[in-house]
Formats: sequence, C-alpha cells, structure tokens
Amino acid sequence: MNIQEIIAKKRDKLELNKEEIEYFITNYTNGSIADYQAAALVMAIYINGMSDEETTNLTLAMANSGDILNLSELGTVVDKHSTGGIGDKVTLILAPIIASFNIPVAKMSGRGLGYTGGTIDKLESIPGYKTNLKIEEFIQNVKQNGISIIGQTLNLAPADKKLYALRDVISATESIPLISSSIMSKKIAAGANKIVLDVTCGSGAFMKNLKDAENLANMMKKIGNLANKKTVCVITNMEEPLGKAVGNSLEVIEAVEFLKGNMQQDVKEVILELGSYMMKLANKGENIEENKKKILENIENGKAFEKFKNWISSQGGDISFLKNTNNFKKAKYVLPVVAQSNGYVASLNAQKVGTISMNLGAGRIKKEDIISPEVGIVLEKKIGSKVQKGEVLAYIHANNENLANIQAKNLQMVYEIKDQKPELKKNILKVIA
Ligand code: URA
Repeated sequence: MNIQEIIAKKRDKLELNKEEIEYFITNYTNGSIADYQAAALVMAIYINGMSDEETTNLTLAMANSGDILNLSELGTVVDKHSTGGIGDKVTLILAPIIASFNIPVAKMSGRGLGYTGGTIDKLESIPGYKTNLKIEEFIQNVKQNGISIIGQTLNLAPADKKLYALRDVISATESIPLISSSIMSKKIAAGANKIVLDVTCGSGAFMKNLKDAENLANMMKKIGNLANKKTVCVITNMEEPLGKAVGNSLEVIEAVEFLKGNMQQDVKEVILELGSYMMKLANKGENIEENKKKILENIENGKAFEKFKNWISSQGGDISFLKNTNNFKKAKYVLPVVAQSNGYVASLNAQKVGTISMNLGAGRIKKEDIISPEVGIVLEKKIGSKVQKGEVLAYIHANNENLANIQAKNLQMVYEIKDQKPELKKNILKVIA
C-alpha cells in the first residue's frame, strides 16, 4: 500500500477501505506522509465525498491516533460541542448550569482560529484562570467541584490537530465527512459517555442551509451511536451572532450577566434546549420542558452562578472579576455605530461581524497571533429590532483609534435596515434526538 495509490483511488471516486484509511492516518500523524500528499487526499475527499462507512472508519482512525481518556471513574459524563459560531459563549454558561445539577462536567475545549477566540481564550481573559492542568488534577477537580474545563494539552486525536490546520490553509473546511470525523474523533478520544452537539446553521456557520446542517447532524449522530455514545444534535440558527457580545472578555461578561438572570432571548433558547437534552442523557429528567424549568430555577436561585464562581476559583481564576465585571480591563476606545435611517434591522451577517471582530484583534488570523481579550463588538440591535436614525446599533471596542473608525464603518454597512419588519427565524431549527 502507498499514499499515491490511495490518493488516486479517491481522486477517481472510489471508496477507500478501512486499512487504507488507517494507513493514511497513522503515517500522516507520524510524519511519514508529507503535507502536500495529505493535502491532495483531503481535497479529493472534499470534492468527491465519503460514504458513511468511510467517514466512520476515518473518525475511528483519527480517535485512535493518540490517547483515549478514560473518565469512567466520574460516572456518566455528557459532553457538548458546537460546530462553531460567532458570539458563541454557550459552554461558559452551560457548563456550570449542568454541574449545578451534580452532573459531572469534564471538558476539553479549544482555542479559536478566525473570528473570535475559542472557549479557552475566553476563559483565559479571566485573570489567573489556568487552562493547562495535568490530567490527574483535571480529574481531581471534577471529583471535588463537579466541573473542570481545560485546553487540549493532552495527546488526544493528534491526527485531527494536523488535518484541521491543513484543511484551514487549503480551503477544505466545509465538508461533511471532514467536519464530522474531526469533531467526533475528539469527542470519542475525550472519553465522554454521551454527547450533545450544537450544529450551527446560517451565515456564521460551516453549514449555510438546513439541509446541509441536517446531513452533518445525521452523520455525527450515526458515528456517535456506532461508537456506543448516545448523541443528540440540536440545529441552531447562526444567521446573526448569538447574543450581544462578540469578543473574549466581552463574552465572559455576557455569560456572567446571563447567570445572574439577565438573559438574551436567543442565548436563552439555545442554553435551555442543549441543557435539557444534556440532563436527559445524564438521567436527570426525561421531560425536556420540565428540564428547561429546572434550569431556569437554578439560575434564579443562584446555584448556577455559585457553581460558576466555584469552578473558576478552583482553577485559579480571580472571581472578583465575576462579582464585579467592571473590573475587566476595558478597550481604549469604545465607539458607537449609529443607524443611518429609520426602519428594522433586516440582516446582520454573522460571518461579517466575525471578520470585523477578528480584525479588531479578538481572533487569530494565524495560529501564532496573540489576541486582545478586551476588544470586540457589543450588538445593541439584532435582526427584527426597530431602529431610528441616529440610534446606537452597536459599540466597537478597540485599542487603536484608526482601526476603531474603520471597523465602525464596516459594521454600519453590515447592518441592513429596511422599512418592512423581517420574518424572524427560529433560534432552534431542529432537534435530532
Ligand atoms: N469544529 C471542529 O472541531 N472541526 C471541524 O472540522 C469543524 C468545527
């Protein structure tokens, strides 16, 4: 067997067998297959697709390319993962909510590439928070506090690390077999028993329409079930950014506000839906509507926020920032973006908002880039909002005045204002349980 034959087979639209897929993953991970050969094969997969069997074999080979965590001593661990979005602060909010029901949260999250940081970058905007705990400390934390979230420091699915970086630079990201194998290999390696997936759909997501999002969700569910990990997919709207804040500490502040009871409607619906299914999978409530009520109760009675503080402090974070979010460092310039006409916000393209936030320094263009935790965007008006000429639509938070002015103009153009009130999309588009 050699890589040239494997590339040629996929190029000619033939199916790869298990041995060929394993050969590729093993030898790409250990460096025997060059990036240019892997790039050719990945592009052939991107163009010609993969059967369900090939995708499953690819996922398992990637999961087995490194360590597989064993979390069995923690009981039933339900993991959660999103296929990516703009303003996605869901993990920051949902993790302590779930832990407040004594469901163990043992999660590894990533840094972001593009748009805004990942959950780990957001958590690091809380001074002192340690993301690189040793595995023993991580498990001890979960046993003691019921929750721990760390970065991907362990050798989990190293094949995905290489392939994800490669896909990014050769424009081969939006592919159902490649996304589903990337996500599910990490979930399998991270050791959870059950998985809830937030499959985003819209301008700010990999999947731009419902049909593609459904296909991706069905594929990941199939892989999860084959790996003996019950998987539920919730397809959520990512046409506009989620919530108000886009940017690292700005999103932490929004998460704190949420847990104190000041909830943005779209974030609330996504949290309640994902959280209720996580509770159901953890055997903490069969009835989804009842679970939603229980979640709201734990926000109202302060248990979820208590758990949040407890978690952050157990990983070294300074909780005075959570008690008073005014303590977070502010960007040097906060510039309003105002409406140029009367009407309704008809569209607010999430991807374009993400690009602006990245240009402000909230996300990375290259892996080595250093993000500025305090910069980003706070959206005061979302799709469907009625606005008057001169009214503030959003605020740009920037450390450079010239950049702030440029990006404020860009954001003004992203806000499409029309006379007619637009038809509003649902926040939860579909659940595949
Ligand atoms: N998230 C991942 O982890 N991998 C992808 O391919 C896309 C989103």
